[in-house]
Amino acid sequence: MGAGILGGYLDGIQEEILLSAGAIQKRVRELGEAISRDYAGREVFLVGVLKGAWVFLADLARQITVPASFDFMSVSSYGAATRSSGVVQIIKDIEESIEGRHVIIVEDIVDSGLTLSYLVSMLKTRHPASLKVCVLLDKPDRRVTPVDLDYVGFAIPDAFVVGYGLDYAGNYRHVPYVFTLRPEVYTR
Ligand code: IMP
Repeated sequence: MGAGILGGYLDGIQEEILLSAGAIQKRVRELGEAISRDYAGREVFLVGVLKGAWVFLADLARQITVPASFDFMSVSSYGAATRSSGVVQIIKDIEESIEGRHVIIVEDIVDSGLTLSYLVSMLKTRHPASLKVCVLLDKPDRRVTPVDLDYVGFAIPDAFVVGYGLDYAGNYRHVPYVFTLRPEVYTR
Protein backbone atom coordinates (compact mmCIF):
# COMPACT_ATOMS: atom_id res chain seq x y z
CA MET A 1 0.00 0.00 0.00
CA GLY A 2 2.72 2.45 1.01
CA ALA A 3 4.79 1.54 -1.97
CA GLY A 4 1.88 1.98 -4.34
CA ILE A 5 0.94 5.44 -3.15
CA LEU A 6 4.28 6.83 -2.09
CA GLY A 7 6.72 5.39 -4.58
CA GLY A 8 8.32 3.01 -2.10
CA TYR A 9 10.03 5.60 0.08
CA LEU A 10 8.48 4.06 3.22
CA ASP A 11 10.09 0.69 2.53
CA GLY A 12 12.49 0.09 5.42
CA ILE A 13 10.82 2.86 7.48
CA GLN A 14 7.29 1.63 8.02
CA GLU A 15 6.73 -1.01 10.70
CA GLU A 16 3.00 -1.72 10.89
CA ILE A 17 -0.15 -0.15 9.46
CA LEU A 18 -2.53 0.46 12.39
CA LEU A 19 -5.37 2.11 10.50
CA SER A 20 -5.86 1.86 6.77
CA ALA A 21 -6.94 4.84 4.67
CA GLY A 22 -10.29 3.14 4.10
CA ALA A 23 -10.93 2.54 7.81
CA ILE A 24 -10.07 6.16 8.61
CA GLN A 25 -12.36 7.53 5.88
CA LYS A 26 -15.25 5.36 7.09
CA ARG A 27 -14.82 6.49 10.70
CA VAL A 28 -14.43 10.16 9.74
CA ARG A 29 -17.70 9.92 7.80
CA GLU A 30 -19.39 8.51 10.93
CA LEU A 31 -17.98 11.31 13.10
CA GLY A 32 -19.23 13.90 10.60
CA GLU A 33 -22.67 12.32 10.64
CA ALA A 34 -22.77 12.31 14.45
CA ILE A 35 -21.75 15.97 14.63
CA SER A 36 -24.31 16.90 11.95
CA ARG A 37 -27.03 15.12 13.93
CA ASP A 38 -26.01 16.62 17.30
CA TYR A 39 -25.81 20.17 15.94
CA ALA A 40 -28.95 20.07 13.78
CA GLY A 41 -30.41 23.59 13.57
CA ARG A 42 -27.19 25.17 14.88
CA GLU A 43 -23.95 26.41 13.41
CA VAL A 44 -20.59 24.99 14.45
CA PHE A 45 -17.21 26.62 14.72
CA LEU A 46 -14.38 24.14 14.34
CA VAL A 47 -11.01 24.95 15.89
CA GLY A 48 -8.27 22.80 14.39
CA VAL A 49 -5.03 22.31 16.29
CA LEU A 50 -2.04 22.71 13.96
CA LYS A 51 -0.14 21.16 12.58
CA GLY A 52 -1.39 17.63 13.16
CA ALA A 53 -5.15 18.16 12.79
CA TRP A 54 -5.25 19.76 9.35
CA VAL A 55 -5.68 16.50 7.42
CA PHE A 56 -8.39 15.24 9.79
CA LEU A 57 -10.18 18.60 9.85
CA ALA A 58 -10.19 18.83 6.05
CA ASP A 59 -11.84 15.41 5.74
CA LEU A 60 -14.16 15.83 8.73
CA ALA A 61 -15.41 19.24 7.59
CA ARG A 62 -16.57 17.78 4.29
CA GLN A 63 -18.76 15.27 6.15
CA ILE A 64 -20.53 17.95 8.20
CA THR A 65 -23.89 19.01 6.82
CA VAL A 66 -24.79 21.85 9.22
CA PRO A 67 -23.40 25.37 8.67
CA ALA A 68 -19.75 25.40 9.73
CA SER A 69 -16.80 27.74 9.85
CA PHE A 70 -13.21 27.14 10.91
CA ASP A 71 -10.09 28.54 12.37
CA PHE A 72 -6.78 27.10 13.49
CA MET A 73 -4.57 27.37 16.52
CA SER A 74 -0.96 26.41 16.54
CA VAL A 75 0.49 25.13 19.77
CA SER A 76 3.74 23.54 20.71
CA SER A 77 4.59 21.45 23.71
CA TYR A 78 8.20 21.42 24.77
CA GLY A 79 10.11 18.27 25.58
CA ALA A 80 11.43 15.12 23.95
CA ALA A 81 10.31 14.54 20.39
CA THR A 82 7.92 11.67 21.08
CA ARG A 83 6.66 12.76 24.50
CA SER A 84 4.62 15.81 25.47
CA SER A 85 6.01 17.82 28.41
CA GLY A 86 2.75 19.54 29.27
CA VAL A 87 4.12 23.02 28.80
CA VAL A 88 1.88 24.39 26.09
CA GLN A 89 2.80 27.50 24.18
CA ILE A 90 0.38 29.18 21.81
CA ILE A 91 2.19 29.96 18.59
CA LYS A 92 -0.91 31.11 16.71
CA ASP A 93 -4.25 31.93 18.27
CA ILE A 94 -7.63 31.84 16.53
CA GLU A 95 -8.52 35.15 14.93
CA GLU A 96 -12.26 35.24 15.63
CA SER A 97 -14.22 35.62 18.83
CA ILE A 98 -15.89 32.40 20.00
CA GLU A 99 -18.24 34.10 22.43
CA GLY A 100 -21.74 32.64 22.13
CA ARG A 101 -20.67 30.14 19.45
CA HIS A 102 -20.82 26.35 19.37
CA VAL A 103 -17.16 25.38 19.31
CA ILE A 104 -15.62 22.00 18.58
CA ILE A 105 -11.88 21.58 19.10
CA VAL A 106 -10.54 19.21 16.44
CA GLU A 107 -7.34 17.45 17.44
CA ASP A 108 -5.37 14.63 15.86
CA ILE A 109 -4.41 12.64 18.96
CA VAL A 110 -4.72 12.72 22.75
CA ASP A 111 -1.79 11.27 24.59
CA SER A 112 -1.17 12.63 28.13
CA GLY A 113 -4.16 14.96 27.69
CA LEU A 114 -2.11 17.97 28.75
CA THR A 115 -2.41 19.88 25.46
CA LEU A 116 -6.16 19.40 25.20
CA SER A 117 -6.97 20.11 28.83
CA TYR A 118 -5.00 23.34 28.54
CA LEU A 119 -6.85 24.31 25.34
CA VAL A 120 -10.26 23.45 26.79
CA SER A 121 -9.76 25.56 29.90
CA MET A 122 -8.28 28.42 27.88
CA LEU A 123 -11.15 28.48 25.36
CA LYS A 124 -13.78 28.18 28.12
CA THR A 125 -12.67 31.54 29.50
CA ARG A 126 -13.82 33.07 26.20
CA HIS A 127 -17.47 32.14 26.88
CA PRO A 128 -18.49 29.92 23.97
CA ALA A 129 -22.16 28.80 23.97
CA SER A 130 -20.82 25.24 24.06
CA LEU A 131 -17.44 23.58 23.78
CA LYS A 132 -16.81 20.02 22.67
CA VAL A 133 -13.78 18.02 21.65
CA CYS A 134 -13.36 15.77 18.62
CA VAL A 135 -10.20 13.67 18.31
CA LEU A 136 -9.23 11.15 15.72
CA LEU A 137 -6.99 9.05 17.97
CA ASP A 138 -7.04 8.42 21.69
CA LYS A 139 -4.27 6.70 23.65
CA PRO A 140 -6.18 6.16 26.92
CA ASP A 141 -3.34 4.23 28.59
CA ARG A 142 -1.13 7.31 28.58
CA ARG A 143 -3.52 9.81 30.14
CA VAL A 144 -2.00 12.02 32.84
CA THR A 145 -4.69 14.70 32.93
CA PRO A 146 -8.34 13.70 32.51
CA VAL A 147 -10.06 15.34 29.57
CA ASP A 148 -13.61 14.86 28.30
CA LEU A 149 -13.67 13.63 24.72
CA ASP A 150 -17.02 14.03 22.98
CA TYR A 151 -16.13 12.42 19.66
CA VAL A 152 -13.36 9.84 19.29
CA GLY A 153 -12.30 8.18 16.05
CA PHE A 154 -10.25 5.29 17.40
CA ALA A 155 -8.72 4.24 20.71
CA ILE A 156 -5.21 2.96 20.03
CA PRO A 157 -2.52 1.26 22.13
CA ASP A 158 0.46 3.14 23.57
CA ALA A 159 2.65 3.40 20.48
CA PHE A 160 4.06 6.40 18.65
CA VAL A 161 2.16 6.65 15.37
CA VAL A 162 2.53 8.78 12.26
CA GLY A 163 0.60 9.48 9.08
CA TYR A 164 -2.74 11.19 8.37
CA GLY A 165 -1.44 14.50 9.77
CA LEU A 166 0.79 13.04 12.50
CA ASP A 167 4.52 13.48 12.18
CA TYR A 168 7.87 12.41 13.46
CA ALA A 169 10.42 15.22 13.02
CA GLY A 170 8.08 16.91 10.55
CA ASN A 171 7.74 13.89 8.26
CA TYR A 172 4.96 11.49 7.17
CA ARG A 173 2.02 13.87 7.67
CA HIS A 174 0.90 13.36 4.08
CA VAL A 175 0.61 9.57 4.28
CA PRO A 176 -3.11 8.69 4.04
CA TYR A 177 -3.01 5.96 6.72
CA VAL A 178 -1.70 5.63 10.30
CA PHE A 179 1.37 3.51 10.94
CA THR A 180 4.28 2.89 13.29
CA LEU A 181 7.93 3.44 12.43
CA ARG A 182 10.70 0.91 12.66
CA PRO A 183 12.81 1.49 15.80
CA GLU A 184 15.90 2.31 13.69
CA VAL A 185 14.19 5.46 12.42
CA TYR A 186 14.45 7.07 15.87
CA THR A 187 18.16 6.47 16.19
CA ARG A 188 19.18 7.89 12.83
P1 IMP B 1 -0.64 15.33 24.86
O1 IMP B 1 -0.55 16.76 25.30
O2 IMP B 1 0.37 14.46 25.57
O3 IMP B 1 -2.03 14.75 24.88
O4 IMP B 1 -0.10 15.29 23.38
C1 IMP B 1 -0.79 15.73 22.33
C2 IMP B 1 0.16 16.07 21.19
O5 IMP B 1 1.36 15.26 21.20
C3 IMP B 1 -0.53 15.78 19.89
O6 IMP B 1 -1.23 16.90 19.43
C4 IMP B 1 0.61 15.39 19.00
O7 IMP B 1 1.16 16.56 18.41
C5 IMP B 1 1.66 14.80 19.90
N1 IMP B 1 1.60 13.32 19.89
C6 IMP B 1 1.19 12.53 20.90
N2 IMP B 1 1.27 11.23 20.55
C7 IMP B 1 1.71 11.23 19.27
C8 IMP B 1 1.99 10.16 18.32
O8 IMP B 1 1.82 8.96 18.58
N3 IMP B 1 2.43 10.56 17.10
C9 IMP B 1 2.62 11.86 16.75
N4 IMP B 1 2.38 12.88 17.60
C10 IMP B 1 1.94 12.56 18.84
